[in-house]
Amino acid sequence: MAKIIAMMNQKGGVGKTTSSVNLSACLAVAEKRTLLVDLDPQGNGSLSLGLSRDKFEAANIYHAIIGETPLEECIYKTELDYMDICPSDNNLSGAQIELVSVIARESRLKQAFESVQDKYDYIIIDCPPSLGLLTINALNAADTYIIPMQTEYLSMDGLVQLMKTATMIKKSLNPRLELMGILLTMYDKRTSLHNQVVSEIKNHFGDKVFDAIIPKNVKLAECPSYGKPIILYDIQSKGSEAYLALAKEILLRERRNQTEDSQQTSLEL
Ligand SMILES: Nc1ncnc2c1ncn2[C@@H]1O[C@H](COP(=O)(O)OP(=O)(O)O)[C@@H](O)[C@H]1O
Ligand SMILES: [Mg+2]
Repeated sequence: MAKIIAMMNQKGGVGKTTSSVNLSACLAVAEKRTLLVDLDPQGNGSLSLGLSRDKFEAANIYHAIIGETPLEECIYKTELDYMDICPSDNNLSGAQIELVSVIARESRLKQAFESVQDKYDYIIIDCPPSLGLLTINALNAADTYIIPMQTEYLSMDGLVQLMKTATMIKKSLNPRLELMGILLTMYDKRTSLHNQVVSEIKNHFGDKVFDAIIPKNVKLAECPSYGKPIILYDIQSKGSEAYLALAKEILLRERRNQTEDSQQTSLEL
């Protein structure tokens, strides 16, 4: 069964899409079967992998969420063997309104995933910049969530609000939901403010902050216009190194958790 990870932060421009696309690609090169789900009506993730809109206009995440088309028919291959994508376009913004009167409207994505969950090791959801119905669907379907945040002071307020939403969803809809980690993005080591923020966030959130920190790297900003994830655009860039380190950190954590779980089970037996 796939591990489902929501990349969420209600603030725009913090690196959700960049992190969703590039983490997915790095997991795929580690031969983990990965599905990237673009849940943002802006469709940046879909376009940044070079898919043309007319190819997926008739079958994308919108059609899966409203129940018109099974999710497996809304999935497309990418340049990487182990990575698929379920794209989105601006029709999806209409889904928020269409779903209001639908029963179990916050479980549509979860239901849609049921038929594909055993085909993947990881499903990564790129959330829109809001805490609306689409993000609620993502957090309801997910096992864990990652909060990417720009390395700056202002982000702290939003973080508190976001965690409240996640706690509410955990209590009312999805008891499995856990925070996987906070991912610092667009870090500039020459800026002393950034260094302060890193140490403050680490003091506050401890080991919930990923060791991997994503630097500000122009290659990461360039690669979407070439329709490629960073590892296919410039494998030697700092951006590639950072997202590969993140994927490795996640895989190692998973392995550690599995070992602990199996030790726990044998103790119980
Ligand atoms: N580490 C980075 N270094 C440089 N530019 C980045 C980096 N991460 C993201 N960007 C750029 O910043 C902008 C916002 O990032 P994006 O991933 O789209 O954020 P979000 O999905 O949260 O709105 C995009 O233009 C993206 O190319
Ligand atoms: Mg985005």
